Amino acid sequence: MCGIIGYCGPRPAAPILIEGLRRLEYRGYDSAGIAVGRDNALTVIKRAGKISNLRGHVTPEMPGIIGIGHTRWATHGGVTDENAHPHTDGSGKIAIVHNGIIENYQPLKDRLLAEGVHFASETDSEVIAHLLAGFYRGDLEAAVKETVSLIKGTYGIVAMHSDEPGRLVGARNGSPLVLGVGEGEMFLASDVTAIIAHTRQVIYIEDGEVISVTGRDYRTTDLRDNQIVKHIDHVGWELEEIEKAGFTHFMEKEIHEQPEAIRRATTGRIDHEFATGHLGGLNLSNRELLEINRVKILAAGTSYHAAMVASYVLESIARIPTTAELASELRYRNPIVERNSLYFAISQSGETADTLYAMREVQRKGGRVLGICNVVGSTIARESDGGVYIHSGPEIAVASTKAFTSQLTAFYLFALIMGRMRDVSFEQGARFVEELESVPEKIERILADTTRIQDLARRYARYDNMLFLGRGINYPVALEAALKLKEVSYIHAEGYSAAEIKHGPIALINEETPSLFIVPDDGLRSKVINNMKEVKARQGRVIALAVEGDQEVEAIADDTLFVPRSSELMYPFLMTVPTQLFAYYCAIERGCNVDQPRNLAKSVTVE
Ligand code: AGP
Repeated sequence: MCGIIGYCGPRPAAPILIEGLRRLEYRGYDSAGIAVGRDNALTVIKRAGKISNLRGHVTPEMPGIIGIGHTRWATHGGVTDENAHPHTDGSGKIAIVHNGIIENYQPLKDRLLAEGVHFASETDSEVIAHLLAGFYRGDLEAAVKETVSLIKGTYGIVAMHSDEPGRLVGARNGSPLVLGVGEGEMFLASDVTAIIAHTRQVIYIEDGEVISVTGRDYRTTDLRDNQIVKHIDHVGWELEEIEKAGFTHFMEKEIHEQPEAIRRATTGRIDHEFATGHLGGLNLSNRELLEINRVKILAAGTSYHAAMVASYVLESIARIPTTAELASELRYRNPIVERNSLYFAISQSGETADTLYAMREVQRKGGRVLGICNVVGSTIARESDGGVYIHSGPEIAVASTKAFTSQLTAFYLFALIMGRMRDVSFEQGARFVEELESVPEKIERILADTTRIQDLARRYARYDNMLFLGRGINYPVALEAALKLKEVSYIHAEGYSAAEIKHGPIALINEETPSLFIVPDDGLRSKVINNMKEVKARQGRVIALAVEGDQEVEAIADDTLFVPRSSELMYPFLMTVPTQLFAYYCAIERGCNVDQPRNLAKSVTVE
């Protein structure tokens, strides 16, 4: 979603802002702009569409050593130059960028209109610039505090005033903001990827905090002006990790990074001596873990599919009733939070509003929520009562791939811990560890030759509809496969339990609606084969995703992809990878913007 970058220091601001905006592109946006300050005046350039539309207007020589930039993902008002950020007040002396949603913007706007203020855009954000102008009495920080005290909703804001040429002021409530501390220069951003080319020293701004920044120092206070001492964190990511490293797209790169990401997610977390896992961040003693008799996992999108797989694994090996919960639904269901239940909030970005608010609702009722996040220092990671980082490295493509398999890894380890405290024997635990440790190498085998998947994508990309069908633990894999295909290729795809199609979706089957069946050699194989035959009998084309050497399935299907043989519980990893590649190649075939699909945002920070 929207992205923010701010710069304050000795260097020309414009190129730094543009570069920062490029690093934020992956979040998804539809317009972009910058404001640069010089000699007590601001220059604002903003355009609908891609950052490249600013080219010609922004030059490296553009004067100004302080500035703010923004990529907008439209919520209030269409995609127009006027609605792009930064927004200014009537005098043009104040410029602001804003992420989030101002819920009470209409009454605020009505009041300002009644006072004769002219609005140049349809956005909720513009009220901030005008409110600041009303409160400004020579101190931008004070004006920001008065302004945000009136605002209801979520915000990450950075403001500048031409009368205070060396200062940026930021404020946060529910929308991330991070300060990058450089050598004689400072950066403010919504996301560390925008600034790690310049500095790895960061300070995460918390809700209710205001930060005032010059090139040399910063001051953090709350809204009552109490000073807050912040500590500097070091970002572990390397710059190369947010670059394509020879791949055509980030999605392709991230699919190929999965073996390594899974290894990283298990590093130091397997205790071979006791054939169990070790997740230090859980902040729970073994006694407390033993008392847990129910697990609920809050998530959205791909993370929700990971949660569904996790529920099968936890129930299967730890015998603990586990449910995956759509965070957006749970929050408004007046959830029943029981003693001895353990909650997880699982989120790649750690910023997904639906998941964050559901987590807060459960915590408010006294529930304990652990986070499983990728982005270090993200809001969910910080606000949860403990948790696990999956350490997949930055995931830049909007479509989540490596985070999914790393999330599974974290849950498999948790399931192992819980299982080994209950009925799983040492031998069973050791076997589970061995199987989990063999997953990266098996994925490498799938990735070593993708020509068959490419060929398949070339032939199937022309279809407008597709079904993905799986059963048991591979049912959520089918859901995830369908989500991936529709996200990046815009082919309408549905995931179903293979058993369910006879209850309705089979009506869709004809020669123009192919089905991809996930057919591992598990206890449900013969039933899935029957479902395949039902589709074939209705002239439906069938792609099977089967296990090496499964000639029976190959003989029924029109096309077959094979994955290495494995134990039942490990198939979600192996079956997922070919479906990610299939979606990727279909998107390429259809000429889609793979890394930034239309209308989508990487981190969905609005409800
Ligand atoms: C994944 O491909 C999607 N873009 C999306 O469904 C995503 O998984 C969802 O928005 C949740 O994101 P999170 O993991 O960062 O919370």
